[in-house]
Amino acid sequence: MSGRLTVIGLGPGDARWLTPEAHAALAAAEALYGYSAYLDRAPVRPGQSRHPSDNREEQARAAAALAHAANGAHVALVSGGDPGIFAMAAAVCAAIEAGPPAWRELDLAIVPGVTAMLAVAARAGAPLGHDFCALSLSDNLKPWELIERRLEAAAGAGFVIAIYNPVSRARPWQLGAAFDCVGRLLPGSTPVIFGRAIGRDGEQVEVTTLSVAKSIAADMATLVIVGSAETRIVARRGQTPLVYTPREAARAHA
Ligand SMILES: C[S@@+](CC[C@H](N)C(=O)[O-])C[C@H]1O[C@@H](n2cnc3c(N)ncnc32)[C@H](O)[C@@H]1O
Repeated sequence: MSGRLTVIGLGPGDARWLTPEAHAALAAAEALYGYSAYLDRAPVRPGQSRHPSDNREEQARAAAALAHAANGAHVALVSGGDPGIFAMAAAVCAAIEAGPPAWRELDLAIVPGVTAMLAVAARAGAPLGHDFCALSLSDNLKPWELIERRLEAAAGAGFVIAIYNPVSRARPWQLGAAFDCVGRLLPGSTPVIFGRAIGRDGEQVEVTTLSVAKSIAADMATLVIVGSAETRIVARRGQTPLVYTPREAARAHA
C-alpha cells in the first residue's frame, strides 16, 4: 500500500516554533486535514487540497484522513502544539485499532511539536524544573470525580501541574473547583501561572498565587501551571517576576 499519513504538530502558534521537520512534512503532503483554526496556520501550497473540520469531530477527522491515505494519497493531519498531547495522534491510533485491517499497513509518521506547557513555562522562567505532570481539565472524555482524584494525588505528591483545557463555554466552573481541590493540599502562597495565546496575537502571561487564582480570567486559549510547595517567585525591578521550581526537593510529601 503506497498511502501515507503524517500527523504533524504545529506548535502553540508562532511560526518560529514550527520545527523544520514539521515544515517539510507539511510541504510534502498532497492533502491536509485538521481543525480549521489549525489548518489556517499551515502555509498554503498550490495543488494541495485542504479538508477543514470542526474541533469536536476528532474521530471522524482521523477516519477521513486514514481513508484518504488508504486510497494511495500522501495525507497530513495537523494538530496544535504536539499531536500526542490531548490531540490527534491518539485519535488516529484509536481509529487504526477499530478500523479496517488495511489501515494498519499504512505508512504512519507522527511529527512532534512544541506543546503549550513548554511555551508557557519558557515565558515564566522554569516552573517545570522539577517533577511535574500534565492534566486536561475537560470532563468531556472522563468523569469529573477522576479529575479531582488526579489533582489531589498530583498536588499531594508534590508535582507541579500543567492544566490544559481549563475552561470552555460549556465548562465554566471546573477551573475554580480545581483550585479549591489543590488548595486543600497546597499553601495559598503557591505560585500559579496563567499563559494565554502564547506565541499568538494577544499573548498574556500572569503570575499570581493560589489564594487569588480564582479571580483571574481564563479561556480556551489559556494554559494554567500550578506550582508545588517548592516553586518560587523571584521579583525583578521593572521586569516580570521569574517563576521556577528548584531542581532539588528536600522532603517527602504526604
Ligand atoms: C485540546 S488541547 C491541545 C494541546 C496541544 N496538542 C498541545 O500540545 O499544546 C488545547 C489546550 O492547549 C492549551 N494551549 C494550546 N495552545 C496554547 C497557547 N498558544 N497558549 C496557551 N495555551 C495553549 C490550552 O490549555 C488549550 O485549551
